[in-house]
Amino acid sequence: MCGIVAYIGEKQAYPIVLNGLKRLEYRGYDSAGVAVLKNGNINTYKKEGKVSNLEDFVKDKDITGGIAIGHTRWATHGPPNDVNAHPHTSENGNVTLVHNGIIENYDSIRKELESKGYTFKSDTDTEVLCYLISDIKTNTGVKLGKAIRLALQQVVGAYAIVVMCEDEPHKIIVARKSSPLVVGIGKENDFYVASDATPIVEYTKQVVYLNDDEIAVLNKEKGMKLYNIDEVQKEPYVEELELHLEALEKGGYEHFMLKEIHEQPTSIQDCFRGRLNAKEGWVSLGGIKYYLNRIMNADRVVMVACGTSWHACLVGEYLFEDLARINVEVEYASEFRYRNPIINENDIVLAISQSGETADTLAALELAKSRGATILGICNVVGSSISRLTDAGSYTHAGPEIGVASTKAFTAQVTVLTIMAISLARRKGKLNEAKFRSILSSLEAIPKKVQAVLDKTEKIKKIAEKYKDAANALYLGRGSSFPVALEGALKLKEISYIHAEGYPAAEMKHGPIALIDEEMPVFVIATKGTSYEKVVSNIQEVKARKGKIVAIVTDGDEQVKAIADDIIEIPETNEHLVPLIATIPLQILSYYIAVMRGCNVDQPRNLAKSVTVE
Ligand code: G6P
Repeated sequence: MCGIVAYIGEKQAYPIVLNGLKRLEYRGYDSAGVAVLKNGNINTYKKEGKVSNLEDFVKDKDITGGIAIGHTRWATHGPPNDVNAHPHTSENGNVTLVHNGIIENYDSIRKELESKGYTFKSDTDTEVLCYLISDIKTNTGVKLGKAIRLALQQVVGAYAIVVMCEDEPHKIIVARKSSPLVVGIGKENDFYVASDATPIVEYTKQVVYLNDDEIAVLNKEKGMKLYNIDEVQKEPYVEELELHLEALEKGGYEHFMLKEIHEQPTSIQDCFRGRLNAKEGWVSLGGIKYYLNRIMNADRVVMVACGTSWHACLVGEYLFEDLARINVEVEYASEFRYRNPIINENDIVLAISQSGETADTLAALELAKSRGATILGICNVVGSSISRLTDAGSYTHAGPEIGVASTKAFTAQVTVLTIMAISLARRKGKLNEAKFRSILSSLEAIPKKVQAVLDKTEKIKKIAEKYKDAANALYLGRGSSFPVALEGALKLKEISYIHAEGYPAAEMKHGPIALIDEEMPVFVIATKGTSYEKVVSNIQEVKARKGKIVAIVTDGDEQVKAIADDIIEIPETNEHLVPLIATIPLQILSYYIAVMRGCNVDQPRNLAKSVTVE
């Protein structure tokens, strides 16, 4: 949600910042802007829309200089237009900044500044912060760093900011609270700043992740100095990035989403690599091994997340309860945090987040921590805020996910949850040796089976062609295929803008059945297993009302084939693992429907991948 990039050093800053903005565009694409500092003058260029609009706009401008800050915006305060685009500049033109987050008390600060005679140009909270810093600097005569510190002490909310100033042209100053910020340390006293490491990795692997309430001064001549909000200097903790540049490219695919769908055999494999072995009969999640007993003996595990990650939690609930007999509650992080939930020291709160930055999920964990619960995380992005806040956790190792609609991160989250559930079940004595080994070998076979579904892309594409003009769609599933139905519906609506709903198949008759007519495609997960016959009955109910059935069935199925309009066969697997395979055809269907409708699959309208505001 908003991406910020900056560079200071001997190189030309603009190309580095522009490149970084393109990498961060998944965080928001309502507008983009850049400000370049050269010979003590700041020039700012900003444009509504994508980074490419900005690129066209500055083509004939002089954008040379060794210091630049840039921003790609997901609008919160004020419509997406040129004026509201970042960077924002103080009234006297001295201070310019980019910001990711929300200044909650911006209105009162704005009014106070207006009473002093200031006139604002934009509707944003960011401009207010910029004016405040400039006002403090001008009226007290302090240096930029002190002015920022004093301003931030007045601010309520979340921010990652990069600030530059015409008076102090050898430095940029960065600060963070609740929104992510990484500083890359170059070889020649040059510094790269970004919301995540993706714009940095091609220049340096040495990074410092800023913590909340930290401020860093990045000076061309004097290097990096890190402080807390009270001006106490700290030693920066430099980490080595494990990210590889190729992982950030499309690698010949038309879209990142398609690439990420096709990466799933590998990403699932990477996720369980070194964590289980069916032949030797062991499973181990290093990150949480010292917490297994605590989880087993907890009163309950509360899983918190948003969006697709919330669907992974629902699958996790089935796995933990059925396999390990551990009581699980699944919560939307945004509801949990404001509901005054009952949490005690014997609870485990497990957050699931691809980005590890989702503001609501982070806040839910902070709340749980403050009430004494053990907090654990499952994240994809290494070094992210959630992974650093939690007591322990497991990475999904799916690699960078750039497409806004989550695909490989979901299957990796479900894989980690499955491994967790199996370890807990084994430790609790709920799985005998034979069952334990059988589920482990089924899990090891998943990548091949996912590949077998990917190999059916041409067939799935034809089905997509048939239903691409639907106005509505229904997704049905039972048991752990219910969250798969929810995820299927979310994928379709977020990238193709077709209205879609996921339901537990049996709930259909309590409302959604009223919507069914010959125009309505109903996607049903009808694989062999406990509820198969019941799902077949639900399919009959749809057919009786002339609805169109597209069924995901187990290879060799005859019963559903006879009644469905279209079927997609998937390989048979252990019932607990069906979500890992059944999700794949639904992702492919959504992808091609969206492409056929001419939608921007990687950057769907109004969405952002990393939601760092609540
Ligand atoms: C946004 C993204 C979704 C994602 C959700 C939660 O809405 O578009 O793809 O599932 O945030 O994000 P997280 O990073 O916490 O998994």
